[in-house]
Amino acid sequence: MSAAATASKKRKVLVTAALPYSNNRPHVGHLGGAYIPADIYVRYLRLAGADVRFVCGSDDHGVAIMITAEKEGKTPAEVANYYRAKQAEDFAGMGISFDIYSGTSVCPLHAAQSQRFFRHIHDKGYFEKQSSRQFYDEARAAFLPDRYVKGECGFCGTPDQNGDQCENCGKMLDVDSLKNARSVLSGEPAVVKDTVHWFLDLSRFGTEVERWLETAKVREQTKAYVSGLLSTGLVKRAMTRDLSWGIPVPLQDPDATGKVLYVWFDAPIGYISFSQELCQRAGQSASAADAWWRSDDAEVYHFIGEDNTVFHCIIWIAMLAAEGSTRLPNGVIVNHFFNMQLPGGAVEKISKSRGTAVWIGDYLEAGGDPDTLRYYLTSIASEKSRSVFKPDDLEHRHNGELADTLGNLVNRITSFTIKHCGPNVPEIDADKITDLDRALEAGLRSTFDDVTRELEGHSFKAALERVMQFARECNKYVDEKAPWSSRKTDMEATKVTLNYVLHAIHGLGVMLLPFIPGAASKIVGAFGRDLPSVQWLDAVEARLVGAPLSQPPILFQKLGAQPTQK
Ligand code: 2FM
Ligand code: ZN
Repeated sequence: MSAAATASKKRKVLVTAALPYSNNRPHVGHLGGAYIPADIYVRYLRLAGADVRFVCGSDDHGVAIMITAEKEGKTPAEVANYYRAKQAEDFAGMGISFDIYSGTSVCPLHAAQSQRFFRHIHDKGYFEKQSSRQFYDEARAAFLPDRYVKGECGFCGTPDQNGDQCENCGKMLDVDSLKNARSVLSGEPAVVKDTVHWFLDLSRFGTEVERWLETAKVREQTKAYVSGLLSTGLVKRAMTRDLSWGIPVPLQDPDATGKVLYVWFDAPIGYISFSQELCQRAGQSASAADAWWRSDDAEVYHFIGEDNTVFHCIIWIAMLAAEGSTRLPNGVIVNHFFNMQLPGGAVEKISKSRGTAVWIGDYLEAGGDPDTLRYYLTSIASEKSRSVFKPDDLEHRHNGELADTLGNLVNRITSFTIKHCGPNVPEIDADKITDLDRALEAGLRSTFDDVTRELEGHSFKAALERVMQFARECNKYVDEKAPWSSRKTDMEATKVTLNYVLHAIHGLGVMLLPFIPGAASKIVGAFGRDLPSVQWLDAVEARLVGAPLSQPPILFQKLGAQPTQK
């Protein structure tokens, strides 16, 4: 291929956000952890002209859904269908722009794709069929994989942990490391019994994981955490389960009867099967998804919360290496959890059972602005360590940053321009340009460069801070140039001010599109721009002289404002 053809080729990127279990609706921790960062990245890439696919859906199998089904007196499929629909509604309400939101029990390609993966790894001889010790509930005559058993983490001592992973230290747990185990089904102490399963010896793929980690785009602390796990040695993990809900183990082996794939085996394969489903929905064949999954020209990024790190950075990489025909992801972007500040000031982990979660459905139903929550969650993003969601702080930042710094700037400049210069971006007399104007333009360019770099590096919080820093610089510029006074003496100089700040506002609008798409589209809309025609580079390159200018609606109403006393 010629250099020119290569240069003009579109960047192909597939972005996934963790598939949530379909036994819950999302809360602010989920949104801020994986879905908003992924959506910001996707929106940025689309604006930058990449050929992007944003893939997600629900993780329907496994014990979590079975337990909810038992509690709610429904079948697992009913539970999954109900919550999947609610999740899709909540994500859409928050402006998360998935290209597909499928589900592992409803995607028509998923079971076959997972079974193909399993058989492929099996045929290559990477599975070890072994009798192993598993927790068992004698009262219910059932094995107790994963969350069907709870006990104390044998590594860090945290009580009330699920049988598969400690929420506190993140270590994977098993019959030896989960202490004082009790059945979730009957509440009785769990006994240990032998059962046959297919194991993947992760230690065989240590080198592949290590090599992947060297070049993969992951945050520093993810790298350190995974390196630490690698240095303590990888173990064998059972990839099958004794459960009635899941994808049947695809082997003609009597021992496979009644067994299903481990939910963490089939779930990440959902990224692939949902991509294929997306291609089919677009009238292509499922194999069109190979352009992302089997091509070195494409990039794949997974966005997840911290509790999913081991599964994506070790087990999934080992699975892909074992399977062999699918590319490894270019990056896994991990955010930490949020804690929640409660009324009175105490800070706690977000917990459904303790009622400390802010649910997205409730927020939206109460009339909450998705942009405000997107903005706040990005501004406190737990990219390096856990941060705290403070409801008062959300209101404070909405009023101070979104309504005052951004909204007022846009409103006062558009209305002032329309009133004094008419409904178009004014032309300017080059002789009237001053150093202050040039500095504003240079500020826009350097902001754009910084924001682009931060977005490319998945530092969304820093990118947003940088945009807002420029919004403050714009306000300072307007205050210094005081167009409301200069118009009385020098209308030509005033037009220069308005022209420069309008270019800056337009640039802010473009750069904010990934973060607060609702308000940002109103900003670019004020310049008569149609969203699909807007490109990332327009932030600095748009020539707006003469563009139609309209006053956008108020971008952000103040929150908590008391009615004025008469
Ligand atoms: O933690 C969870 O909610 C899991 N269901 C995430 C799965 S991500 C992917 F691998 F499917
Ligand atoms: Zn622990």
